[in-house]
Amino acid sequence: MKNPIAQINLLFIIIISLISNLAVAKDILPTKNGIDYPVGLKNWRVIASSYRTDNNTQRVILGNSIAIKASREAQTKPWPKGSILAKLVWKNTTHPDWDSAIIPNEFIHSEIMIKDASKYKTTGGWGYARWKGTSQEPYGKDQSFTQECLACHSQVKKNDYVFTIPAKIP
Ligand code: HEC
Repeated sequence: MKNPIAQINLLFIIIISLISNLAVAKDILPTKNGIDYPVGLKNWRVIASSYRTDNNTQRVILGNSIAIKASREAQTKPWPKGSILAKLVWKNTTHPDWDSAIIPNEFIHSEIMIKDASKYKTTGGWGYARWKGTSQEPYGKDQSFTQECLACHSQVKKNDYVFTIPAKIP
């Protein structure tokens, strides 16, 4: 690229995109138990989806590379150290051009579970974190919010505290 104006423009575009990426990463604060929003979560692959009839929401459950490998190989009892499961939740709406199709609308929250049996010994080997709404504000006044997560997830202790059943992908 010989044209100096084009070079300056390109440099400018690169700087702006770097700054905006940093801003996005910085905007999301860690939860009170010290868990950061995982880098690259939006690019993780799907383990399953779910749909709740009681509150009219739908979810996708994603995994980092360790969790994806474990779920594809059915090595999830227990999930290996370093697995991160993420759940993204939206309110349902009807597709504007196809009445019977239910699609995601308002974003409700994202939440994760990080497997590390020694680090998160007091919460069943999983670190819990949730960020609310489009602002992705950390959920919980103090770290005790994790007891709420644990209390419900303990119902599936036999499945290493995980409700999700990996979807069959032929
Ligand atoms: C009252 C019960 C309940 C509470 C409280 C609860 N969960 Fe869950 N969670 C579920 C159920 C049921 C599922 C599976 C169905 C679904 O996808 O919504 C689930 C799924 C998840 C998943 C996907 C992995 C899995 O176990 O299936 C994550 C991650 C998660 N919850 C994180 C959290 C976090 C973080 C908290 C606390 C801030 C929390 N949950 C509190 C019931 C609960």
